[in-house]
Amino acid sequence: MGNIDRFERLLEDLLEVSRFDAEVAVLEPVDFNLISLINRSIEDLELVAKENGTKIIFTPYSEDLQINADIRRVERILRNLLNNAVDHADSKPININVEYNDNDVAVAVRDHGVGIDANSLLRVFDRFWRADPSRSRIRGGTGLGLSIALEDARLHNGELEVWGRPGQGAHFVLTLPRIAGNTIESRLIRLEPKDYSL
Ligand SMILES: Nc1ncnc2c1ncn2[C@@H]1O[C@H](COP(=O)(O)OP(=O)(O)OP(=O)(O)O)[C@@H](O)[C@H]1O
Ligand SMILES: [Mg+2]
Repeated sequence: MGNIDRFERLLEDLLEVSRFDAEVAVLEPVDFNLISLINRSIEDLELVAKENGTKIIFTPYSEDLQINADIRRVERILRNLLNNAVDHADSKPININVEYNDNDVAVAVRDHGVGIDANSLLRVFDRFWRADPSRSRIRGGTGLGLSIALEDARLHNGELEVWGRPGQGAHFVLTLPRIAGNTIESRLIRLEPKDYSL
């Protein structure tokens, strides 16, 4: 990312944060195919993933999953989760999983990289917080990404939750109602990853 792009990203993030604080952030829901959105986000990151020696694995049950949500916000959440996963994956594969029922949809991003310790788990959604500030000189940004992602999820009456262990990777689970305005009724993906055992 060039310096001008970086500056624009920062400005956009700061403006968004101000809109949340002023309670003027509004949802602009549209109907769209969530699977296509995920596929596009993965494709756009494939080059960076390749450079990092990481594969993003996504094998959805179906190619079409219609939801009604603010596509700009959902895309921003997904891109941040994927970017974070690629940055921390330690060249190990990243798995994306989608589960849904009539009311809810859940998207999980699981990496098997450096992981997150118990103290950091309490802070990852804080504004400007980064476990390793020096990383920003390479690819990471300002530490606003996850704080905005959480506010974007909650604006949808949804949730964004995190699991992590040092050296065992991280697992971020986003749950949204399939129709904007509804509330979520379930957790379709368990936060502790299936592939994890002590
Ligand atoms: N998958 C992950 N594995 C390990 N640590 C993570 C992971 N995702 C996020 N983190 C930690 O949480 C911090 C905050 O993430 P966040 O997305 O908010 O900020 P960022 O990626 O540093 O910058 P930005 O997203 O604003 O460009 C990261 O800097 C990193 O320390
Ligand atoms: Mg980020």
